[in-house]
Amino acid sequence: METVVSGIRSTGNLHLGNYFGAIRNFIKMQYEHNCYFFIADYHSLTTHPTPKDLHNNVKQVMVEYLAAGLDPEAATLYIQSDVSQVCELYLLLNMNAYKGELERCTSFKEKVHKQPDNINAGLLTYPVLMAADIIIHKATKVPVGKDQEQHLEMARTFANRFNRLYKTNYFPQPYAFNFSEDLIKIPGLDGSTKMGKSENEGNAIFLADDPKIIKKKIMRAVTDSGPTKHNQEKPQEIENLFNLMKVVSENETYNYFNEAYNNCSIRYGDMKKQLAEDVIMFTAPLREKILEISNDNEYLRKVAAMGKEKAMENASKTIKEVRKIIGFKSF
Ligand code: TYM
Repeated sequence: METVVSGIRSTGNLHLGNYFGAIRNFIKMQYEHNCYFFIADYHSLTTHPTPKDLHNNVKQVMVEYLAAGLDPEAATLYIQSDVSQVCELYLLLNMNAYKGELERCTSFKEKVHKQPDNINAGLLTYPVLMAADIIIHKATKVPVGKDQEQHLEMARTFANRFNRLYKTNYFPQPYAFNFSEDLIKIPGLDGSTKMGKSENEGNAIFLADDPKIIKKKIMRAVTDSGPTKHNQEKPQEIENLFNLMKVVSENETYNYFNEAYNNCSIRYGDMKKQLAEDVIMFTAPLREKILEISNDNEYLRKVAAMGKEKAMENASKTIKEVRKIIGFKSF
């Protein structure tokens, strides 16, 4: 049995990228491994949410975790800010994280580009907090999408560096993980290669989207004028639709449209209609559960309290040992 840790930032509703990149693996792993899944609310502070939004977003992710099938009796489900030991480890790791390597991180460079007026220190040290989240539980497997690969590499660097500095092998190496294949990236509907919460309007399909909205978003997805040569390479936006179809539709459906593309008989309208139907079939039961669970505050309180206790117990143990390794001693 391995120790597994993963989290999702609480910056809004979850989308199909979060589901297929992360949550699908959480569900598969929860009965086989020692799992800690959390809501990364400290990480969401880099964009300065209002107190009301902060709380609502945390609640929404918790509701959607549960609706998607996370079992709080099997995995430890907790809120990052409930486990303040993470902050202590973050501080300690920051002493051995260097400006140059943090500045070279791709996600930092992207943020600098996207929000030039808010390049705060939290953004720069984002991967250090993420490493603390992971190694506080001494995790070896971290189910994430492809976009988190570099962050995992940095987590290994910080864990290794700690081990080397203090001549110990205390922290194991955490690796990014996808249950059955390579790490995945779910594309957006606007032709971009990644579905994301903060991308263009219409880029993402959220788990809680109304079927009518889903249909509208998919029917509006970017396409080209169609293939003109047999077995022609697919342009990005078409490849994106096929990649979405690969995860939500039956293999036969995918093969049918793929063949139609290859022999130039494809009608994108038909393909989108089928894709919309399949996405709706996949999300409809989730949406129903989301609505049901979000009204059950008592249950949510219970789940959060249970997760907090279990996660804190493990995190406190790590912090106690780390303090000892570093040399903190009481008189
Ligand atoms: P976040 O909140 O951006 O995304 C949460 C998870 O969803 C995956 N994901 C995707 N996977 C495939 N295709 C997509 N289009 C797509 N969009 C998002 C992400 O890869 C991720 O697995 N830094 C993390 C949160 C975090 C964390 C951690 C994760 C904080 N501490 C410790 C693991 C371990 C983040 O911002 O993910």
